[in-house]
Amino acid sequence: MLLYIVALLALWSVYRWFKESKHLANRGDKHVYITGCDTGFGHLLARHLDKRGFRVIAGCYTDKGEDELKKASSDRMTTLHLDVTDSASVAQATALIDALVGQKGLWAVVNNAGISVPVAPSDWLTVEDYKRMLDVNLVGMIDVTLSVLPLIKKARGRVVNVASAFGRICPFGGPYCVSKYGVEAFNDSLRLNLAPFGVKVLCIEPGFFRTNVTDPQIIEENGKRLWDRLPQDVKDDYGENYVERALQTIVAKCQLLTDDDLMKVIYCMEHAVTAVHPRTRYSPGWDAKFIWLPLSYMPSFVTDSLVLKFSPKINVSMF
Ligand SMILES: NC(=O)c1ccc[n+]([C@@H]2O[C@H](COP(=O)([O-])OP(=O)(O)OC[C@H]3O[C@@H](n4cnc5c(N)ncnc54)[C@H](OP(=O)(O)O)[C@@H]3O)[C@@H](O)[C@H]2O)c1
Repeated sequence: MLLYIVALLALWSVYRWFKESKHLANRGDKHVYITGCDTGFGHLLARHLDKRGFRVIAGCYTDKGEDELKKASSDRMTTLHLDVTDSASVAQATALIDALVGQKGLWAVVNNAGISVPVAPSDWLTVEDYKRMLDVNLVGMIDVTLSVLPLIKKARGRVVNVASAFGRICPFGGPYCVSKYGVEAFNDSLRLNLAPFGVKVLCIEPGFFRTNVTDPQIIEENGKRLWDRLPQDVKDDYGENYVERALQTIVAKCQLLTDDDLMKVIYCMEHAVTAVHPRTRYSPGWDAKFIWLPLSYMPSFVTDSLVLKFSPKINVSMF
């Protein structure tokens, strides 16, 4: 019996490998629009797809990011300024893309731009902190997508949304997980809505990778800044030295879990853009596969007790 199960699993793996290994032809005809190409995944993906022969349109937030990408790419690459929180900037980018792609339409948009701070317990934050991050990670993504959707439909192309393992489980406070849960919901509704038009919608859910998003210095500065602005009564709730102890724990865990090999994410993004049969979801990173996703399927009381066990401890009891 066990042998039959192993044989079936092996057959299924070979079938899946064969199906997923087919890639699209005519890359030189296909335009791929990527947001957030100054640094991190976006920058690497833009350069990688450029090398593979695609016509990449790279949205950059800063002039510096745009210059660096231009220097590192072929003349197939088009760079443009893009602030996803500014609808005028999004519309201007779309007008330029429309002119570039012509009747062929846009093959793919990769919604990658995102920010990760402020991150903190929810009672340290203001609604403005939430709005700022939701504007970039969620509303900005929706704005970019809706803006290029007619061009994608024309090409019967793809929308690739960069969510996170933290769109499936929420082990820390603040707006990041809220925004990524929103990305997951947008992704899932869009996938269903666009299926009849032959447009595929794919989601990337990475674990921890070494980019600005997981930079210990940025996390520490963010934590100290938020602590310093707290009223004394909230500081008293957490106890003396809480921020130092909490940051030590968080930075140590981040360093333990963070993967240096960003190409694991880039290959998933490339597969979503170029495979004839892409996956609906990709979860690059060992922590995503073996920690966050399994935890997300457990009952809440199990997940909560495990997350609390490994969270920074609060010294002061309020009761
Ligand atoms: N690294 C991870 O562990 C991890 C895990 C899961 C998911 N993700 C997601 O992966 C995506 C890429 O992040 P990353 O890790 O590569 O970090 P990153 O290097 O910080 O990349 C994010 C990019 O978005 C740009 N950006 C920020 N605000 C923007 C705005 N308003 N308009 C347009 N672009 C803007 C940034 O520009 P500047 O650099 O100029 O600010 C940067 O180029 C994000 O959506 C992130 O949430 C990352």
